[in-house]
Amino acid sequence: MSRTDRTPHRRRKPALIAGAFVGAAALTVSTLGLANASEGPQTLQRVDNPYVNAGVYVNPEWSANAAAEPGGSAIADEPTAVWLDRIAAIDGSGQGGGRTMGLADHLDEALVQAQGHDNFVFQVVIYNLPGRDCAALASNGELGPTEINRYKTEFIDPIADILSDPAYAELRISAVIEIDSLPNLITNVGSRPSATPLCNEMLANGNYVSGVGYALATLGAIDNVYNYVDAGHHGWLGWEDNFRPGAQLFHQAANAEGASPSDVTGFIANTANFSATKEDHFSIGDVINGVPIRQGSSWVDWNQYTDELTYSQALRTELVGLGFPSNIGMLIDTSRNGWGGPDRPTGPGPQTSAEAYVEGGRYDQRIHPGNWCNQSGAGLGERHTVAPEPGIDAYVWIKPPGESDGSSEEIPNDEGKGFDEMCDPTYGGNAQNGNNLSGALDNAPVSGHWFSAQFQELLANAYPPL
Ligand code: GLC
Repeated sequence: MSRTDRTPHRRRKPALIAGAFVGAAALTVSTLGLANASEGPQTLQRVDNPYVNAGVYVNPEWSANAAAEPGGSAIADEPTAVWLDRIAAIDGSGQGGGRTMGLADHLDEALVQAQGHDNFVFQVVIYNLPGRDCAALASNGELGPTEINRYKTEFIDPIADILSDPAYAELRISAVIEIDSLPNLITNVGSRPSATPLCNEMLANGNYVSGVGYALATLGAIDNVYNYVDAGHHGWLGWEDNFRPGAQLFHQAANAEGASPSDVTGFIANTANFSATKEDHFSIGDVINGVPIRQGSSWVDWNQYTDELTYSQALRTELVGLGFPSNIGMLIDTSRNGWGGPDRPTGPGPQTSAEAYVEGGRYDQRIHPGNWCNQSGAGLGERHTVAPEPGIDAYVWIKPPGESDGSSEEIPNDEGKGFDEMCDPTYGGNAQNGNNLSGALDNAPVSGHWFSAQFQELLANAYPPL
């Protein structure tokens, strides 16, 4: 189905109350009070931060899973993102884990939820590049490394067809673009010990860059879509060797396939990861007994950043310097980075050594910042918060807490989901996590399936507490 001949089968009256957009200066007058948004051209212009003064979509399928858990009703009305991680997720048939709603079903439900709100945000993850997630197996995609044309015509174009339906024109669609993939082209390539053959192939064939460029250009052409490009997290691109090359690669992708930096509303850090938003008990410049923590702490290990907030703010500055619009904003995925519970440090570690000082003070209790799968000890992080800090558009829950990152042992499935040893608690690690234990919870189902034990631990270790 092409963009022009699709049947407008989901036309409805716009759910947002008439005159509701008075606060948005960019609004053109003709939209206000339209009886049916589909009758007129889409005339809303983007606002700087789509989350301001806006309700956010609660995914009913996630919410039902959360509410069915003991204690889960405390968070079951939190907004979480809808993930499109394969072609068959668009119509809902291939989501797995008992989930059946497709993109249009979710958008129709968003119109219902939007009633009574001045503005309303729908969060969606676009995640299906050719040769996807070249350094991990649990999240390997369905498209082979060379299948860039299928990515465009069978994934991005059909998504754009649905999102551009005038029925949805008054929703603000926050699109998280292709997590992990561009960062993999920085750290897991070339002669680095962490390199993988697939990452080298995706670097050489250019299909991650083309795919991200195509997604940005195509979705960016829809006036009510706000693109946020994935930017890894501080424990990935925070080192000097990775930081500027990462920003340059994002800029390259934002200029590929007809995209331009103006198609980018911002970037997102920590998607589906566990890095703390703020480490309060140490800072990157701290020196203990004459030893900088960058040098003396095995946790910091020469990184330039200690947490997601400092990383995100610095990356924003770097990206603006490279030519992105000066008003880009950052999102931080705080769904599982709370690290509360009884073991949460209440003050700095002892000043006996840089190592002891950081070890005693850090909230993030992972064995190594390269660990990413179903991390033991993690808790829910900050609830959805708008413009919490300078340069930050919002704290958001992109990874729906309670959905597994990957199975802890091989489980046959018809969803194309592989087994990654980083999800096996007995695995001794590799160059990507400094050859440490994986820190993953045992008895985990395949990615995207409900993992009750993890959900319970996330509740118990929530910070701020519930
Ligand atoms: C992974 C799963 C997918 C799920 C998403 C969010 O990408 O493969 O099914 O929707 O995580 O939990």
